[in-house]
Amino acid sequence: MTLEEKIGQMNQLDPSWDAEPKEALIRQGKVGSIFNVVGVKQINRLQRMAVEETRLGIPLVVARDVIHGYRTIYPIPLGQGATWNPELVEQAAQLTAKEALSDGIRWAFSPMVDVAHDPRWGRVAEGYGEEPILTSAFGAATVKGYQSQGMAACVKHFAGYSASEGGRDYNTTWIPETQLRDIYLPPFKAAVDAGAMSVMCSFNALNGLPSSANHHLNVDILRDEWHSDALLVSDWGSGSDLVPHGLCADKKEAAERCINARMEMDMQGNIYTDYLAELIAEGKVKESQIDDCVRSILRLKYRLGLFDNPYVDEDKVIAYTPEALELATRVAEESAILLKNNGVLPLNVKHSTLNVLITGPLAHQKKEQLGTWVFDAQPEHSVTPLEAFQSLNAQRSTLNVIYEPGLTYSRDKNTDFSKVIAKAKQADVILYFCGEEAILSGEARCRADLNLPGAQRELMKALAATGKPVVMVVMAGRPLTIGAEVEQAAAVLYAFHGGTMAGPALCNIITGKTVPSGKTPITFPKMVGQVPLYYNRLNTGRPSYDPPMLIDSIPIGCPQFSIGQSSYWLETPTEPLFPFGFGLSYTTFEYGPTTYEKQASGAYEVTCTIKNTGSYDAYETAQLYSRQQSGSVARPICELKGFKKVFIPAGDSCTVTFTLTPEQLGYWHESWEPVRGSDIKAHRYYFATDNVPFTFRIAPHSLPAGIGF
Ligand code: GLC
Repeated sequence: MTLEEKIGQMNQLDPSWDAEPKEALIRQGKVGSIFNVVGVKQINRLQRMAVEETRLGIPLVVARDVIHGYRTIYPIPLGQGATWNPELVEQAAQLTAKEALSDGIRWAFSPMVDVAHDPRWGRVAEGYGEEPILTSAFGAATVKGYQSQGMAACVKHFAGYSASEGGRDYNTTWIPETQLRDIYLPPFKAAVDAGAMSVMCSFNALNGLPSSANHHLNVDILRDEWHSDALLVSDWGSGSDLVPHGLCADKKEAAERCINARMEMDMQGNIYTDYLAELIAEGKVKESQIDDCVRSILRLKYRLGLFDNPYVDEDKVIAYTPEALELATRVAEESAILLKNNGVLPLNVKHSTLNVLITGPLAHQKKEQLGTWVFDAQPEHSVTPLEAFQSLNAQRSTLNVIYEPGLTYSRDKNTDFSKVIAKAKQADVILYFCGEEAILSGEARCRADLNLPGAQRELMKALAATGKPVVMVVMAGRPLTIGAEVEQAAAVLYAFHGGTMAGPALCNIITGKTVPSGKTPITFPKMVGQVPLYYNRLNTGRPSYDPPMLIDSIPIGCPQFSIGQSSYWLETPTEPLFPFGFGLSYTTFEYGPTTYEKQASGAYEVTCTIKNTGSYDAYETAQLYSRQQSGSVARPICELKGFKKVFIPAGDSCTVTFTLTPEQLGYWHESWEPVRGSDIKAHRYYFATDNVPFTFRIAPHSLPAGIGF
C-alpha cells in the first residue's frame, strides 16, 4: 500500500450530504469507511466504486447509528436497562443486526455504555443508567448480540462523557482515576472482554485532555492493560475539535496529537487526509504509526468478511418480522416500571363494562414513541397505546374506549382542557399518556428543568380534579421530576420511549395480560436541584438520615447556627423520588433474611429466599448489595454486586444464591509507593480488596440513602 492509500483507509466520511466530492474520494481510494448511507442499493453502488475502481479494491466498511433497533425499534437503552434482563436485550440485538445487515450495514455505532448520574444530560436516554455492573451486562449483551450475526459493535463514548459538568452535553469532565476505574471504565472493559470489534472516542475533555488525544485512555488502558485489538474511531470530528477545545493551535497539530494517542480512524474530521503525509515528511509522525492503525482497520474488514463478500443481496431485506415485533413487545413490557398503584391496575376488562378515556400528548404519536436516535424505522409500523386499546375494544364489548388528547404534543402550552374534561365525565378510568417528544432527549438535548414539558402538569391536575382515577403513563427519554403528579395519580407506569410496539406492551400491562417487572436503572430525583443523586454515593462525614429542618420550619428571626449540620438541602431531604432498582408488581414479594458465608478462597456465598405472597405469577429482580463500613478510601453506602431476574409463581418461593470473588469486591485506590531502589514516591493505583469485612443484603431495590446494613 502507498502512504496515500494507507491514510485513505483511516478516513471515514458521511456521503449523505456533499456527496459528489466524497464519492470522488472513494474512487481515488481515499476513504476507508462511510456511514449514514441509506439503503442496500446505494450502499452497493458506493461499494463498487471502492472495490472496482481503486488500485487495491479494498472494500469500504459501512456504518450506521443503529442504537436501539434498525427497522423494528426496541425501547431506548435506558428502558432496556429497566428490564434488568440482558439475555432478552441480547436477543433484540441479534434481530436488530439481521435487519441492519440485510440493508447493507456492517458496523453499528452502539452500545453506548456511558454510566450516567445526571438526567439533565440528553444522552442519558442512550445508556443503561447509573450502575456500572448493570451497564456492563447490557453493553456486553449487545456486543454479543450484534457480533454473533456478523455486525461489528462499537462501544462508546470512551470515556467519561456522561460526567459532563451541569449535565450539559460535550462539557468538561473532571474524574479522578479511582472513580474512572470503579464507575466509568468497567462497562467498556466488559464490552472489550465480550469482543467488541471497535471503540469510539468521546467528545469530552477528561481532566483537561480530550479523549481523541488521550494516550492514557487509548493506549495505556485500552491496548496495554486490556489488550484490546478493537478499532478506535473518533466521534464526529472529535479530532478536529481539539482546536476549539483549546488543546491544539491548529488542525495539523490536532492530527499529530490524535495519531500519537492512537486514534485510528477519523470520522468526518478530514485531519488525517489533510495533514498526516506532511507530519510524516517532517518526521513528527512515523509511518509505522500509520501501519498500526491501518492494520486495525483491515482486521475489522477481514473479520466482517468484507474481502470475501463486499456486496449485499438486494432482494433479502429483512424488516418488521413477526418474531421481531413479538420480541419488541416483550422488551417494551419488561422495560415499563410500575411506580405506584393504589389497586386501580390491572383494569378489569373481562367481566364488566369499562369506559376508558385515553388522553395525553403521547397517546397516539407513532414517531415520538420510538425515542431518540431513530433514522431507519418507518413510524407507520408503530402501534400506539390508542391503537392497541382500540383493537382491544373491537375484541371486547366490555371495553369502551373514549379518546381526547387534551394536548397535541408534549410542549403544547394550551390550557383549554374543556373538551377532555367533558369526556372524562363519561369515563370510569383515565389513562394519561404524557412525557417528552423524542427530540427532547439524545445528543445535545439537555434540559435544565426535569418537569413534564408544556402544560402537561396542568392537564394532570385537571384530570385528577375530575375525581376519576388517573393512570399516568410516562413516555420519556429520562427520569422526570413528577412527584406532584405521582401524588395526584392512582397509578404510575414509567415506560420511557418504548419503541415500535409500545402500545400493545402498555395495553397488555394495564389490562393485566402481563405483570409489570421493570425496575429503575437510574435514581429518580424529587427535584432537579438534587442532581447528581445516585445510589452508590459516599456517605459523607455528616450524612442526613433523620428528617432535617426544611426551609419553612426555620423559625423567623432564627439566630445564626448551622441548621442540622448534615448534608441535605433546605427544600428537600436527600431521599430521591424513587431509588435505583425500584419497581412494583401486581403481586407482592417477601424477602427472607440474607445469609452469607466467607469461604476459604476468600469468596462470599450470599443467599436469600423470596416468596411470592400475592395472587399473580410474576418476575422479580433480586439485587445483591454489599457494603464495607471502612476501607483504604471512603466506601459507598451500598454497591450492587449482582442481580437475578427470577420467575416465581403465586404462592411459591425461590432461593437465590450469589457467589462473589474477592476480585468482584475489589475497588481502585491510590497510594504512594517508593520506587524500588530510590526514595522517589510513585503515585500508584491499585485494585484490591481490604481485609475489612463486608455485609450483604439481597433486596428488591437499593436501600434508601444512608441506611446502611
Ligand atoms: C454523533 C454521536 C455518536 C454517533 C456519531 C455518528 O455525534 O456522538 O454517538 O455515533 O456522531 O453519528
